[in-house]
Amino acid sequence: MTTLTDYLNHVSCDAALSEVITTVTDVGKTIAQLLRKGALADILGEAGNQNVQGEDQKKLDVLANDLLLDALAQNSHCAGVASEELDHATPANVDGSLLVLFDPLDGSSNIDINMAVGTIFSILPYNRQGQASKDQDFLQPGTKQLAAGYLLYGTSTMLALTITDTVVMFSLDPDTGDYIVVEEQVQIDADTSEYSINSSNYRYWRAPMQQYIDELIAGEAGVRERDFNTRWVAAMVGDVHRILCRGGLFTYPFDTKYANKAGKLRLMYEANPMSLLIERAGGSATDAVNRILDIEPTDIHQRVPVVLGSKNEVNYVRELHLQHANKQG
Ligand code: AHG
Ligand code: MN
Ligand code: MN
Repeated sequence: MTTLTDYLNHVSCDAALSEVITTVTDVGKTIAQLLRKGALADILGEAGNQNVQGEDQKKLDVLANDLLLDALAQNSHCAGVASEELDHATPANVDGSLLVLFDPLDGSSNIDINMAVGTIFSILPYNRQGQASKDQDFLQPGTKQLAAGYLLYGTSTMLALTITDTVVMFSLDPDTGDYIVVEEQVQIDADTSEYSINSSNYRYWRAPMQQYIDELIAGEAGVRERDFNTRWVAAMVGDVHRILCRGGLFTYPFDTKYANKAGKLRLMYEANPMSLLIERAGGSATDAVNRILDIEPTDIHQRVPVVLGSKNEVNYVRELHLQHANKQG
């Protein structure tokens, strides 16, 4: 039985990084407990406010955010936090060497219906120790991440983590409160017959994405000459978890539904940490054409189209987009 603490020691994880990961995953235990109590803990329903991105906040969005913020503020290694639910990054300890970014509660629309939700986190180096951190300090590409992971609050609570060149999966033992390693080296098959997309946005997609989904729906009778299957959890953390378990393709593509939004998902809190996990497990992650992890961020809340999962399928989507661009050009 390898616990998270054993694992961090085993891979000689830097002490500061270990402590920050432990803080985040400890808060995950508290969120998991609250979710288990559900309505009895008065965590369901609306908070009555909107976040900086104009989204209605749920009670648990605010609660999870505050729990993470408070815990990280007390961690001397944390120089600052940036969250989907905060207007600006919040400075923490000026001598800290790490910045922590998170989506405190992913899949908010699932909270009130007792379906899977999660917490996604990303850890970056802080380069101006001794001075208070600002939004600008967080604008580093995904390749700079020192660690990334998620907590999935499903039928059991699981942690997926990458700090070395592999992805490790842990399961929370509710009896001991320990995260126990259940998969030492997660690997995604290059091919898949399962895909994940919110098809109700079809009319807002670009032509190559419409063509791709048309081909999958045509199945055996179409150019792909085999049948595909759809799954949509409505929480990226659930869809990514399924892909880490059995492969697949997940996309929230570019759409024209809302002006000035390149996609729905957020680069810093969702796309970057998930892309690091997916790549380290042998998959690919793009904005349909370019690698997500290479994007130079310009805003902590920026959105990005996301196509990730089994390598050959992600490449196929890229080919369709390039072919379409060539025809246009
Ligand atoms: P969040 O709850 O943090 O705002 O994220 C929700 C995201 C993502 O997790 C999920 O894949 C997607 O939004 C669901 O979108 P639809 O409402 O279009 O299904
Ligand atoms: Mn989210
Ligand atoms: Mn969220």
